[in-house]
Amino acid sequence: MVQADPNISPLVASAAPQPHVRPADLRDLDRLTDVLTASFYDRDGWRQWVYPFIRLGIYEDLKQRLKAQSPRYACLAAIAAPTAGSTAIHGDVIVGTVEASLRQPWPWQGDRHVYISNLAVDQTFRRQGIALILLRSCEQVAQRWGLYELHLHVMEDNLAARALYRKAGFSVVQTEDSPASWLGLQARRLLLRKTLQRPSHLTRL
Ligand SMILES: CC(C)(COP(=O)(O)OP(=O)(O)OC[C@H]1O[C@@H](n2cnc3c(N)ncnc32)[C@H](O)[C@@H]1OP(=O)(O)O)[C@@H](O)C(=O)NCCC(=O)NCCS
Repeated sequence: MVQADPNISPLVASAAPQPHVRPADLRDLDRLTDVLTASFYDRDGWRQWVYPFIRLGIYEDLKQRLKAQSPRYACLAAIAAPTAGSTAIHGDVIVGTVEASLRQPWPWQGDRHVYISNLAVDQTFRRQGIALILLRSCEQVAQRWGLYELHLHVMEDNLAARALYRKAGFSVVQTEDSPASWLGLQARRLLLRKTLQRPSHLTRL
């Protein structure tokens, strides 16, 4: 049974213990940074020397965002079911994270939307549906903010993430080239979008 959270409503109902999602705070900073850094950066060979610096940069950036406590920003943490094993911080075992923020583009660039970033799941806990749960939680955050459109970017060669987003109902709206992608040094960036169904009392307006 999914544990209740005051801000994030239950997402999955089953007899087996399930991970749940809650808003992250500054006490989670170390563990969130570990999950993010290990998910996005390699530490093999010579990279182990730069890894601590990359980790520090991620830590400081995330700290700023968490400290700002913006009402239009949310950092969510996926907490492992109690039986799963990993290092616990403040009693919780954080196994994944995602961030959502409100984007207000210029009028000619489209509607206000929620932008999703920094989705990462600890290697040991992958393919257990945790990323899908985090994305569903972002949808709930968007709905709380009164927004029904979600955007995110993914690299064209990140096939695991692309499969995930497809399954979660996102579709590609734009392919973004860069000088590095023209030269074949980097994959292209894809902009993905998902539109949520508005509550019926809003669609009548
Ligand atoms: C991408 C990532 C967040 C997926 O997390 P996850 O918790 O393992 O994903 P889920 O278990 O919720 O997967 C849901 C679905 O996504 C797809 N998927 C996820 N990982 C996949 C993989 N490695 N290969 C193929 N499909 C995959 C599958 O359709 C999967 O459903 P299934 O397991 O029933 O087949 C995780 O691999 C990760 O942290 N990667 C590194 C960071 C990253 O790339 N983040 C995204 C940046 S845009």
